[in-house]
Amino acid sequence: MKFLKNVWYVAALPDQVGRELLGRKIAGVHVLLYRTQAGEAVAIADTCPHRFAPLNKGSLIGDNVECLYHGLQFSPAGRCVRNPQADLISPNMHIGRYPVVERHGLVWLWPGDERLADPAKIPDLSHIENSPTRRTVHSFIEAPYRHDILIDNLMDLTHIDFLHVGSFSGGPPESGETVVEERDNQVIVTRTQYRGAPPPRDADMGPLVDRRFHIRWFPSQVTAFEGRMVLPGGSLDQGRKTVFTHIATPADAKNTNYFMSFTREHAVEDRDLDAIISATQKKVIATEDGPMLEAIDRRMNGADLMELRPVVLPGDTGALRVRRVVKRLLQEEERHQAASEVRSA
Ligand code: FES
Ligand SMILES: [Fe+2]
Repeated sequence: MKFLKNVWYVAALPDQVGRELLGRKIAGVHVLLYRTQAGEAVAIADTCPHRFAPLNKGSLIGDNVECLYHGLQFSPAGRCVRNPQADLISPNMHIGRYPVVERHGLVWLWPGDERLADPAKIPDLSHIENSPTRRTVHSFIEAPYRHDILIDNLMDLTHIDFLHVGSFSGGPPESGETVVEERDNQVIVTRTQYRGAPPPRDADMGPLVDRRFHIRWFPSQVTAFEGRMVLPGGSLDQGRKTVFTHIATPADAKNTNYFMSFTREHAVEDRDLDAIISATQKKVIATEDGPMLEAIDRRMNGADLMELRPVVLPGDTGALRVRRVVKRLLQEEERHQAASEVRSA
């Protein structure tokens, strides 16, 4: 499986990166994240160039990482700065480093061509940043399934009225429609559904509601959601609002770094509520989407979705558009890569 490389991926939550070494796989690349003594989050390659030991097994000496196996040391810029066996440090002893930016309460990493790593390309998630009137709870799971089927799942919310009955849904609506737009390599899905039972937590609204989900996908494999719910026939713009974000950073062809968050504008200081929200999110993923996605992943056995010639339903439009954008961006990256190789030859 090929991954987009010239994008900012969410690599970690800020409190996952500290003075302990964190090894993580991002788009097929082993990276090592940590904070310098000054508190700056940095990332270098997680593989020692000597005998390929994972550097995350090593330790921090000041701002440098010492390999546990034979003691080579590397700076936050990936430079080998100490060779305990000789004074010599040759060019092939240096390792890669990756641009890192903390923004919107998340740690972003660029695994591709560093010259293109413009922080202005980070998806705008300012609407989930914590403030005195807003609180976002983040959760993380190492998901044992490939990221593209998770994105399919997130872009096609018709599944909530079957897979999530009793949690996110009260059952299928009488009717629904999906509208898909593409803008600046983003795919925006608006899913509206009419006269369905509300999910249990919104049972106070009555037996039937209209719902609308607005989903914005970014090539960083970020999906930002806004949900609205009203009594049938009411104005959805004025409806009860929920804001949540799901991020499917690919680890490799079989695993995903799955970040999910829920944003609220009430009880902002309530840390007990934070814990309840996080536990609920993880439970629904672990008991509803997770087992389904693992089973699908096993059944697909690494095959490309389109090569399996799937049946296409109206709700798939957004997910299929995402696949088209990713394919186009992968081709652009290949052209950029080929041009760079010609220039440096
Ligand atoms: S494997 Fe790292 S120093 Fe030998
Ligand atoms: Fe789901």
